[in-house]
Amino acid sequence: VAAPAATLVIFGALGDLTKRLLMPSLLNLARDGLVGSDLDIIGVSYHDGDDEMLRQSLEEFITGGASAKDGEDAAWKALRQRITYHKGDFTEKSTFETLAAKLQGNAAFYLATAPQFFGTIVEQLSDAGALDEKDGFRRVLIEKPFGHDLASAQDLNKLILARITESQIYRIDHFLGKETVQNIMVARFANSLLEAVWNSRYIDHVQITAAETVTVGTRGKFYDATGALRDMLPNHLFQLLAMIGMEPPNSFEAEAIRNEKAKLLAAVRGPCAQTAGKDAIRGRYTAGNAGGKPVGDYLSEPDVAADSRTETYAAVKVEVETWRWAGVPFYLRTGKALTARDTEIVVQFKPVPFALFRGTGVDQLPPNTLVIQVQPNEGMSVNFLAKKPGPVMDASAVSMDFRYADHFTLGQHTGYETLLYDALIGDQTLFQRADMIEAGWAAMQPVLDAWGAGGVAEDYVAGSAGPVGADELLTRDGRKWHSLG
Ligand code: BG6
Repeated sequence: VAAPAATLVIFGALGDLTKRLLMPSLLNLARDGLVGSDLDIIGVSYHDGDDEMLRQSLEEFITGGASAKDGEDAAWKALRQRITYHKGDFTEKSTFETLAAKLQGNAAFYLATAPQFFGTIVEQLSDAGALDEKDGFRRVLIEKPFGHDLASAQDLNKLILARITESQIYRIDHFLGKETVQNIMVARFANSLLEAVWNSRYIDHVQITAAETVTVGTRGKFYDATGALRDMLPNHLFQLLAMIGMEPPNSFEAEAIRNEKAKLLAAVRGPCAQTAGKDAIRGRYTAGNAGGKPVGDYLSEPDVAADSRTETYAAVKVEVETWRWAGVPFYLRTGKALTARDTEIVVQFKPVPFALFRGTGVDQLPPNTLVIQVQPNEGMSVNFLAKKPGPVMDASAVSMDFRYADHFTLGQHTGYETLLYDALIGDQTLFQRADMIEAGWAAMQPVLDAWGAGGVAEDYVAGSAGPVGADELLTRDGRKWHSLG
């Protein structure tokens, strides 16, 4: 069903996100008939220019390179006519007054800007009357980072909620746009196979990993002020944690699902001031080879301060204080310039209660795991033991594999299609609510405080699996990280 007629206003129309992800996603939606000729797009930016300038700047990205597809041009031609440019400074009243005058009926505002503008834009839109829902919906989509710690996230929520209601706010966490992440709910709540074992009685621990081979590249300014923990943990990795840990919602309604996720996130206990030193590990890459390329030291990256203490790797042990999860540690890790790009969730099961095969070597074999491969090579595998044929009792680790590519066509989607479409149809399931965002920050705040107070990140060579301290975090508990890649 096509989304209703609306105007999509994109602040930061000339930015990277708009070109690389938003516009290709809108084009994909148009090609799939999910947005029609009644979607108008207004791009806002402070640069000089006109409609044609904006269209051309977006076009370069859409028609260029390997992403050009058959039929794309016709769809793009139709879409490009509906794109107009609105030049204006995000801090000036007149930008918003003239913008408000252009709007009628439904409108969604996408804040694809630097985070310091989020609050200002909402206030200005509100002052200009652009957020009043008198003749249609008015919704605001906000990119991450939503705050840089608990206090700033609370302030931003307060400021925004003074102007609009929670039902008008769509806080983006683009991990929720990933098919494999949405599939966690189907895996858990549409299959009885997993339900019976999904608790502390059978699960030993869970590992959640987002490893990247890329370095900070050209993002030094943002990244050096942010670091791996803020960039990935309280948002992306916590969303995965919530999907794995939440109780079954009592319906598929957005609020029912968000309530359960919020409850789970509120139960996450990260390291405290006393334990941060041993349960939160930070690393920083030094020169090496990652992603098939030579990589320089983090400190030599553009826009990184010479005396920077920012981490490019973080590994944290958290507990989830609920009936289902008491005593099951969740280990979270993320980093740049690592040996492989690998976003995965590993659920490791406990050993069988009685070691029947002791003495045969079978009980030395790896434990059962369920590996949810978020990206790349999307899929799920169950790893278990099977008897080796032959008269001597011996077994071997084997695996049952499901790969998306073998069953479905994932296509060239960016993951933002579903987020844009859902915002236009008013489905908030895949968006972060104020309490979820704040719970994520609250759980990590003691670590942020401890790291902010001093100390340095441990070096790891670019292209390795991360700092030694991260391995020790698990070996200390008699466990081991799943190998990357
Ligand atoms: C972003 C972070 O939110 O997510 C980046 O700011 C990170 O640093 C990216 O690279 C990872 O997203 P994906 O979809 O490539 O796994």
